[in-house]
This record gives sequence, structure tokens and C-alpha cells, in this order.
Amino acid sequence: MADKKSESGEYWNRHVVSWEASTYYTDKDMPKPNAWDRFSTYFRGASLYDRMTLALEMLQPYLKGLTVLDVGCASGRFANQLLEAGAARVIGVDISEDIIRIANERRLAGPHKERLEFFAADLAKPASLPKVDLVTSLGVIEYFDRDDMQVFLGNTKADYFFHDFPDVARTTNWLLWWMRQVYIRVNQCPGVYLYKRDEFSELVKQAGFAGEVWYERRSIFHYASNLPRNPAQFPPRG
Ligand SMILES: C[S@@+](CC[C@H](N)C(=O)[O-])C[C@H]1O[C@@H](n2cnc3c(N)ncnc32)[C@H](O)[C@@H]1O
Repeated sequence: MADKKSESGEYWNRHVVSWEASTYYTDKDMPKPNAWDRFSTYFRGASLYDRMTLALEMLQPYLKGLTVLDVGCASGRFANQLLEAGAARVIGVDISEDIIRIANERRLAGPHKERLEFFAADLAKPASLPKVDLVTSLGVIEYFDRDDMQVFLGNTKADYFFHDFPDVARTTNWLLWWMRQVYIRVNQCPGVYLYKRDEFSELVKQAGFAGEVWYERRSIFHYASNLPRNPAQFPPRG
């Protein structure tokens, strides 16, 4: 019998294809999202396209020659963009076999098949992940409670990380926060977990990441990383 997935993993395994189809609504090759996801598109708008563009702007100066692991990669949208922005190789991992199948179909149809790889794994359970230079995630770690977060951080084998960060400051935008609470309850999502910066810095240190952890807010999104703050101080790779 297959191992039971983590609670957040079970939720995303059921939900990710519909979520992706409604979030990146300009993609026409996806199955139709469910009615609730179609409705939520009106509120979400293009915001998650922006989350990716902002992350890419911040990462671009570091990427040349890097091997990157994008966790919670869904259909591989960000993985492809990381390659186009200069990464040497990108590996994407996600809980859902269905979304990994879609990622692989797109990979085989696209120009980067040799430099991309996708596989399925539950990252909130002990998992064997490849050693990479940089691990990235967008919209993923907010679904990990403290125990899952410790398991997740312990799973990742990289010198550097760059994560879209669920900062407690999100609650200050009360309208967005409460709309989000309705969305996750209707969808029966187990929870979204916010972190204080000090708390997260301590967790990544315990997981063995070195260097100063910094946080940056761009638009409505927060990002956390231990890359050198100044890209000019980042040793070139490859
Ligand atoms: C909000 S979506 C973000 C997808 C993508 N990073 C993006 O920004 O478009 C969260 C992603 O994390 C994945 N995910 C959630 N929990 C996971 C887990 N325990 N293990 C692996 N992937 C997980 C989901 O399947 C989904 O693809």
C-alpha cells in the first residue's frame, strides 16, 4: 500500500490541477477548473503571475550556471522561467503525479527538455532530494505547519534557498487575509500557516543553512533567502 500523504499534501494532490488552471488562466491546454476556482479567479486576478515575475527579477542576477530545485513546481511554469533567466538546470518536484505528468508533457513539447526534470514526492514527509545549488518555492511553504516545515527544510540539500515567505505581516492586509480564509475553508484546505521572521530564521539555521537570512517585501508578497544580499558577492558557478 502506498504511504499516506501529509495532510497538506492530500489537499494539494486533489486540488492542484484545478488551482493551476484557474490561477494561470491564460494557459489554454489545461483541464477546466472547478466552479469555485473559476469564481476565485475574479478575486485573484493576475496577482500570482506578478508573484512569479517579482521572484524572477530578484533571482535573475544569481542564476547563471546554477542547478535549481523548484519545490511545489506544479506544471513547471517557474522552472521554465528559471531556465530562461540563466539557470543551467532545473529540477521540479510536486506532490501530485497528475500535475507532474502535465509538467513533463510541456517539457517534452518545449525547448529545454535536456535541462529540465520533474518528479513527484511529498515534501512534508522525509524524502530523498537531489543536492542542488539553490532551492526555490512560490506559494508552498505557507501550507506547512511547524512540524512539516522542519521536515521540509531537513529534506532540502542546497547551499541557498529562496522562498515566497508567509510573513505574519500578511494579516495587516485584512481584506485579502479574510478573503483567503473563506477560500481555504470552502476548499477544505487543512490550513495556511504564517511565520515570524525570527522564528523562520531559527528553523533554517537548525536545518543547516548558513549565511544571513534576509526578507524582502515586494508588492503584496514577501520573500526569504540566504543568498548573499549583494549579487556581486555571489561566487559565479559553472
Ligand atoms: C499554491 S501552489 C503553487 C504552485 C507554483 N509554485 C506556482 O507558484 O505556480 C502550491 C504547490 O505546492 C505543491 N505542494 C503542496 N504541498 C506539497 C507537499 N507536501 N509536497 C510536495 N508538493 C506540495 C502543490 O501541489 C502545488 O503545486
